[in-house]
Amino acid sequence: MTPPPAVKAKDAKATPHQESRIALRSALGRFATGVTVISAQSADGHVHCMTVNSFASLSLDPPLILWTLRSQSARYHTFSKTHAFSVSVLAETQIDVARKHAMPPPDGFAHRDWKAFLGGCPIIEGASAHFICKGHTEVDKGDHVILIGEVTEFAEHHHPPLVFMGGKYYSGSSLKPL
Ligand SMILES: Cc1cc2nc3c(=O)[nH]c(=O)nc-3n(C[C@H](O)[C@H](O)[C@H](O)COP(=O)(O)O)c2cc1C
Repeated sequence: MTPPPAVKAKDAKATPHQESRIALRSALGRFATGVTVISAQSADGHVHCMTVNSFASLSLDPPLILWTLRSQSARYHTFSKTHAFSVSVLAETQIDVARKHAMPPPDGFAHRDWKAFLGGCPIIEGASAHFICKGHTEVDKGDHVILIGEVTEFAEHHHPPLVFMGGKYYSGSSLKPL
């Protein structure tokens, strides 16, 4: 069968489905969040990190948190199979850290090169809070999985947070209390 002619990029038009996806994404982006980096060690000892803004608190008793991971993510196997992971809540001075960990090095970082650990888990130094979590439950929904972790250790450092909204980063200290 003859393949359909290739569509040139300049002639391509968004389908109604793509347009509604873009509109939904834009509306969801109105929800301002903090920015975290999830870190874990894989079985070969490498440290893997990923910038994530889907982090949320789930329960105080027992202490549970959640985040969502794209099921097709290159790091799906690392983060879904890990027994423990850390959440570092980034400070407003850490925009470069957020950008860096949104682009993964394919093999992660060598364990010996990683400086900061808490409860045996790699963490991001200088963050405004850290949570060490034991892997708990995975819920597969749509194109993401929800990963629920039990908090076994945490630390708070009171640095103003980095904020994310509408695809842009904002400094937490520029927010006005109402
Ligand atoms: C501010 C921000 C928040 C993000 N939050 C998430 C998230 O909650 N879950 C997720 O799977 N990816 C999230 N990402 C995307 C990942 O950081 C990363 O770019 C992506 O996973 C890289 O592709 P890969 O998943 O194939 O490794 C976020 C990216 C940015 C910049």
